[in-house]
Amino acid sequence: MTNVAQEPNFDVHQLSHTELFTPVLADSLEFFTKILGMTVVHEEGDSIYLRGYEDVYQYSLILTQAEEAGMGFSAFRTSSQPALDRRVAALKEAGVEVEERTNNYGYGTSYRFKDLDGHVIELFWEVEKYKAPDHLASGLGNRAQRKPARGVPVRRIDHVNLMTHPDMVHKNHEFWRDVLGFRVREGVLNDKDEFFATWLSVSPLVHEVALMGDELGGHGRLHHLAFWYGMPQHLNDVSELCVEHGIPIEAGPLKHGVSQALCMYIIEPGGNRIELFGDSGYLIFDPDWETVKWAPEDAAKAIIWFGGELPETYFRYGTPRIEDETDELNCYFNPIKNSLEKEDMAIHISKEREKQLYETFNFKVKD
Ligand SMILES: [Fe+2]
Repeated sequence: MTNVAQEPNFDVHQLSHTELFTPVLADSLEFFTKILGMTVVHEEGDSIYLRGYEDVYQYSLILTQAEEAGMGFSAFRTSSQPALDRRVAALKEAGVEVEERTNNYGYGTSYRFKDLDGHVIELFWEVEKYKAPDHLASGLGNRAQRKPARGVPVRRIDHVNLMTHPDMVHKNHEFWRDVLGFRVREGVLNDKDEFFATWLSVSPLVHEVALMGDELGGHGRLHHLAFWYGMPQHLNDVSELCVEHGIPIEAGPLKHGVSQALCMYIIEPGGNRIELFGDSGYLIFDPDWETVKWAPEDAAKAIIWFGGELPETYFRYGTPRIEDETDELNCYFNPIKNSLEKEDMAIHISKEREKQLYETFNFKVKD
């Protein structure tokens, strides 16, 4: 029996780009260009703009020098100018403060606001599509740019996971659903039968946005930003590079229960968690898809179906970082020192030795 579903709106269309703050801009840039094979298209002030080779617009990532890691904002393109006007009107009607912004590099007027947990989001319609210069042009007419011969290059941006105060996840998912038009594809429930985590999309993908409970009770933090490969083998290839060059792998390669994606998590030098998608998992074409609900006791299985154990800091670590009593277990905080200590290979490592180790791995350590 077909559900009597609310008329869907298709006003918000896709995730376009995300700004990441990093306290070590040069190291983050090395990682994104040399390990993930991204291409720099623009520099402005303290920001560097980068793209994956199949991103259709100018760029999908802005790296900005800042005191602390975290997400500056995430921008979504709407399906038309009237669609943008409708969503801006809906935001204002919902009492959300909206800031009109012009002079955006590579896209037109945008409307910036915060979701209910404080994540900064933008909507826009007008955009400049990427036209590769001759030396970067691909022989494939359907590929925006020649595949770079650096690292294991990502193809495009995929989704963003917004860490949300546990008491706010349910309300915030209603905001994304009712005001912005996202469909709720899957969710993990808490003991009150409300969502502790949800995965939402505006396309056949299972998610362009996830909202996930922050066990440290933070607001507006970033859990991770994800890029897409489309080929599971690339996860093994990039794992080799990460191990060789001292980039901490948090988990994977593995398979998610939610979305069925093949993926892995790594921590870029600035401290932000990055997910890589080897395979997006299943797609949804059913117009009145019923939200898949996972019981609280199945949360770990929802995140990792197979391929490892859920790290203890998974629902705790995000950026900006919050001091955490599990820091000694937190491989991202100081990966080399902690992994050596865990293996009983070092009781104490001097700052100097630590610096040498980082240099061995070709990444500078911040004093
Ligand atoms: Fe993800």
